Amino acid sequence: MCGIVAYVGAEKAGPILFDTLKRLEYRGYDSAGIAMRSNGDLLVLKSAGRISELEKAYLTQGSPGDCMGIGHTRWATHGRPSDDNAHPHTSGDIAIVHNGIIENYLELRERLFDLGYRFSSETDSEVLAHLINHHFRGDLAEAVSEAISEVEGSYALAVLSSRSSAVVCARKDSPLVIGVGLGCNYVASDVPALLPYTREVVRLRDGELAIIHRGQLEIKDLSGRPVAYLMEHIDWDVDAAEKGGYSHFMLKEIHEQPRALQETMAGRISEIGGDVMIDLGFSDDEVRKIQRVCIVACGTSYHAGLLARYLFLRAAGLPVDVEVASEFQHQQMRPETLLVAISQSGETADTLQALKKASPCGIRCIAITNVVGSTVTNLVDGTIYTRCGPEIGVAATKTFTSQLAALILLGIRLGRARGHISPDKARKMLVEFSRLPGFVQEVLDEREKIREIAEQYAGSSTYFFIGRDYLYPIALEGALKMKEIAYIPAEGYAGGELKHGPLALITDGTPVVALATCGKKIQSNIKEVRARGAELIAIVERGDPNIGKVASTVIELPPAMPILSAVLCTVTLQLLSYYTALKLGREIDKPRNLAKSVTVE
Ligand code: AGP
Repeated sequence: MCGIVAYVGAEKAGPILFDTLKRLEYRGYDSAGIAMRSNGDLLVLKSAGRISELEKAYLTQGSPGDCMGIGHTRWATHGRPSDDNAHPHTSGDIAIVHNGIIENYLELRERLFDLGYRFSSETDSEVLAHLINHHFRGDLAEAVSEAISEVEGSYALAVLSSRSSAVVCARKDSPLVIGVGLGCNYVASDVPALLPYTREVVRLRDGELAIIHRGQLEIKDLSGRPVAYLMEHIDWDVDAAEKGGYSHFMLKEIHEQPRALQETMAGRISEIGGDVMIDLGFSDDEVRKIQRVCIVACGTSYHAGLLARYLFLRAAGLPVDVEVASEFQHQQMRPETLLVAISQSGETADTLQALKKASPCGIRCIAITNVVGSTVTNLVDGTIYTRCGPEIGVAATKTFTSQLAALILLGIRLGRARGHISPDKARKMLVEFSRLPGFVQEVLDEREKIREIAEQYAGSSTYFFIGRDYLYPIALEGALKMKEIAYIPAEGYAGGELKHGPLALITDGTPVVALATCGKKIQSNIKEVRARGAELIAIVERGDPNIGKVASTVIELPPAMPILSAVLCTVTLQLLSYYTALKLGREIDKPRNLAKSVTVE
C-alpha cells in the first residue's frame, strides 16, 4: 500500500505535495518522492526514508518547482526501499506515481526492453512510465488510456508531463480521490490528505480517467467519452478521516481484508495451469527432497503456522513441526528440513533468533512477512510477501489472514512441485480460493449482528473458544484477540481436549464460542458444554440444520472449503473481540503493555 498525491493550481506545488503526503504517511513511509513542472522541464526529487527528510532536501535547494506536481509515499512491495525504487518513475519527460500491483509487469518489462527502454528500478511501477511514454503522441490522457489497457493488476495512478498542462489520473481497484478547490485541484489516495485544502471531493471510479487542469476537471471513460461525476461534501473531522471514517485502525484493518487478500494472491495464481507462481529461492529439485517442515513464529503468526501443520500434510504430504520461536530447540535439524519463519513485522527478535540458531544446520529457509526489506528477509533463501499494507493497530488482523493466504499458496506450491496434488485438484482449490475476498466481505456485512452478540457477553469474566482441525488454531487466535484487546481472560481449546480438564471451568453462563463450520465431531463437544450450562455462541455454515437447536446464539457464514472457512471464522472472531473491547471502553489500537513489533527476546 502506498499513498499518491497531485496538485495543479496557482501556488508552488512543492509545499502542498509534502503536506498532503505527510497526511498519507499511515499508508507507508519507507521512501518518498515528488515530481514537479519547473521552468518547462520536469524536476524529480526522491529518496528512501521519511518524507520529512526529503522535504529538508527540497528546502535546502530553495524550494524549486512551479505550480503543478505529483507525489508518492511508498510502502515497498516489489523491490526494497531504495532511492531508485522510490517513485516518481520517469520515462523521457513523463513522470508517474503508482499505488497498486502490476501483475503482468515482467512480460511488459521484457517487451519494453526490446523496444529500447531501460529500467533503473526493481519496481513493477516503472513499466507504467515507459508504457505511457511509448504511447504518447501529444495527448497524455490518450496515452494513459492506451497504456492501462495493456496492464493487468491494480492501480491508482497520477501522471505528469512537461508537455501537458494537465495531470492525468486513472484507477482500478485502488482508491483515488480528487479534491476540487477554487482555481486549483488536488489528488490523494484518501480523503484525509485533502481536508485542510477542500471538502469538495470526487471519488474516481474504476475505468475512469481524470484530466486535471488548474481550474477545470474532466472525467472520461477509457475510450475518451466524457463521464458525469458526483461531487461529495465531506463533513468528517480530520482525526476520524485518518482512519478512513472508522473509529479505530483495527476496525479499518479488519475491513481492509478483502483487498489485502487480493493483494496477497495477485499474480501468484495460475488457474489454467493449476499451479502457484512463487519463487522460493531454490529449485524444485530441492523442494522434492524436503522431508519435513519446521515453522517458527510468535503470537498470532504462530497460530498461522499451526494451521499450516494440517495444510502442508494434506496438500504436500509434508509433516510439520510448529515451534513458538522463543522455545525453538531444533538446532540439529536434518538437511532435508525446510524452515519457514512467519513474522508480519519481520523484526520479531525471538523469530530472528530461532532462524539464526537453525542456520548452522545448512537447511533451506523461507520467510513469510509483510514488510519488504525487514531483517527476516536477510536470513532466508526466499521470501513470500503478504503485501497487505501497513498495519497500525497492535492487534494483528489483516496480516494474519494474509499469512493464512500465503500459507495456502505455499502449500499448493509445494504440493504441485512434489507431485502430491494433481493440476486438476490444485485448479479446483485455486478457483475456490480466489472467491475468498468475496466471502470475507459477506462476513463483514454481518458486523452489526456480531456487535450485538459481543455487547451481550461483554460483561463475562471469561471466554472459551473451541474448534477442531483447521479451526483449532483459529480458536487459539480468537482467544488471543479477546485477551489482547478486551482484557477478558480467554482460553482456546481443541474441541476434543475440553473433557481432559478445562471442562471444570464451564459453569452456568460461561460463553463458549464453538467454531462449527466444518466437521461433525465438534457437535459432541458442544453438547458437553451445553450440559454444564454454557452460553453457546455457534459459528456455523449458512443453513446448518442442527446446531441452531442447541446454541444460544448462531452466527452463519458462507459455505466454503474448510481451510477457507478458517479465514471466515477468523474475521468473525476479530469483530467479536473488537466490539467487546469497544463496549468495555478499551484502548483498542494500543492495548496496555503491548507493542506492534517486539524486538527484544
Ligand atoms: C497479535 O495480535 C500480536 N500483535 C502478536 O501476537 C504478534 O503476532 C507477535 O508479536 C508476532 O509478531 P510478528 O508477526 O511481527 O513476528
